[in-house]
Amino acid sequence: MKWLAVTGWRRLKSFWADRSLATKFVSVYFLVGLLIVVALTWRSGSQLATALEEEMEHELEIEAFIIAGTLGKDFEDMLEYGRSPSQILTLIHQFGEGTDSRITFYDVQLNLVFSTDPNVRPHRASLTPELAAALRNSEQHDIRMDPWTQEMRLYVAAPVYQEEDLMGLLQISIPWQRVQDRINSEWGRLIVTGLLAILANTLLSLWLAWSIVRPLQQVTQAARAIAGGHLDRRVPVPGKDEVGMLAVAFNEMAERLQEMIARERLFIANASHELRSPLTSLKLRAEMLREGRLPPERQRRYIMELEKEAERLHALANRLLDLSRLQLRPETEVLEPVDVMPIARDVVETLSLRAGRKDVQLRLHAPQQLPKVRASADGLREILVNLIDNAIKHTPAGGSVDVVLTPEPPYLRMEVKDTGRGIPPEDLPHIFEPFYRVDKARRRQDGGSGLGLTIVKRLVDLFHGRIEVYSSPGEGTVFVVRIPFESASATS
Ligand SMILES: Nc1ncnc2c1ncn2[C@@H]1O[C@H](COP(=O)(O)OP(=O)(O)OP(=O)(O)O)[C@@H](O)[C@H]1O
Ligand SMILES: [Mg+2]
Repeated sequence: MKWLAVTGWRRLKSFWADRSLATKFVSVYFLVGLLIVVALTWRSGSQLATALEEEMEHELEIEAFIIAGTLGKDFEDMLEYGRSPSQILTLIHQFGEGTDSRITFYDVQLNLVFSTDPNVRPHRASLTPELAAALRNSEQHDIRMDPWTQEMRLYVAAPVYQEEDLMGLLQISIPWQRVQDRINSEWGRLIVTGLLAILANTLLSLWLAWSIVRPLQQVTQAARAIAGGHLDRRVPVPGKDEVGMLAVAFNEMAERLQEMIARERLFIANASHELRSPLTSLKLRAEMLREGRLPPERQRRYIMELEKEAERLHALANRLLDLSRLQLRPETEVLEPVDVMPIARDVVETLSLRAGRKDVQLRLHAPQQLPKVRASADGLREILVNLIDNAIKHTPAGGSVDVVLTPEPPYLRMEVKDTGRGIPPEDLPHIFEPFYRVDKARRRQDGGSGLGLTIVKRLVDLFHGRIEVYSSPGEGTVFVVRIPFESASATS
């Protein structure tokens, strides 16, 4: 039994889970609405029925008293002015005319005097609750089977006085069905109102469900389209509510994705282009050498050029590999506390040879003690090597390159400043892009791949740092890198 209940519940759950959002929404809305409307209709209907019953009983009692009062007056008129009882009868008949109300008059001994209903035969009435109450001069209604018409009727009665004397009892009755009919018609009206409310509720929930489900469907369709390669697909934003926010977020995501893919494509195109030119020159030289008809002098030159191109290719391949490794590194990679000083000293020492050959002064300025930064030793070395190498490369003989390390909590500030030819302002925003070189014509003899600063930027990002560049053509360039100190990153 318990097992049955459990599987039943599971089935119900999976059935519910498989329904569409619109179905869920509308059915819940409909059920809740139905429950509320039924409960309200039931409650107000019952109250209305009771109130109506009471109202009709009360009205009838008042009517009985009015007629009884008039009748008492008529008796007086009859005695004073000699009107015949038949005239009074006519008057009473007029009261009951056109309705199925019945007016009956009994004398004090409860013998029938007259009735507006011909079904009523001469008889002596028993002391029914309404007659007993009228005798006591109070009111009481009664609902019972009528012996003359065999239908349920509502009875009320009132005493008829002539001056102080009790002349008899006036009884009024109406078919109970009349009360029921009125109650039923009220019920009918209530139910129609209820049904209209349920209809309105259902329509409203349908509209609401549609307004939520429609944008969701559009997002689903757009996501599928994007997955299918239509990267420019976007969804309309229906408004500023949560569904609208979803559409906005979705469009932003699609935009980013498109940009990212465009960047990757451009990168691959550029990389292929970079690879093609050295390869073409390699091929040409190799072909000429294969012919074997070159003078030994040219042969030697070609072989040297071959070697140089191969070296360039090798360097480029290494750069690309570095970059792809950086891209594969997870954002959450564990960074370690690194002491910058030994690394900076080592890099400056290694590169001062090259600087010396170019007659460029390379100097390191740093305080005695520096806190550790949160980074990786290899990455820091790479950053410094690239920046200093660029600086030496672009500084003419007699110039200088200064590497300045200063604590600037919560960052360590590393500055590489040269007195070189500088970077034109229009090129500054692009120098961190892959393969970007300011002087395109010079690139072959420089041997640069244009990937150095891209790698530097990626590393700085990875260390949660920042990089800035200031340059004035003809005067020099400053690269400023800020890497968070080990203690600062623990709190940030
Ligand atoms: N200190 C500098 N002074 C003047 N121009 C610079 C300086 N640093 C970089 N640049 C310019 O920015 C370009 C991009 O530099 P990047 O280091 O990315 O490439 P590269 O040095 O040409 O190649 P690689 O570093 O891969 O050997 C350089 O080609 C150069 O034109
Ligand atoms: Mg470089």
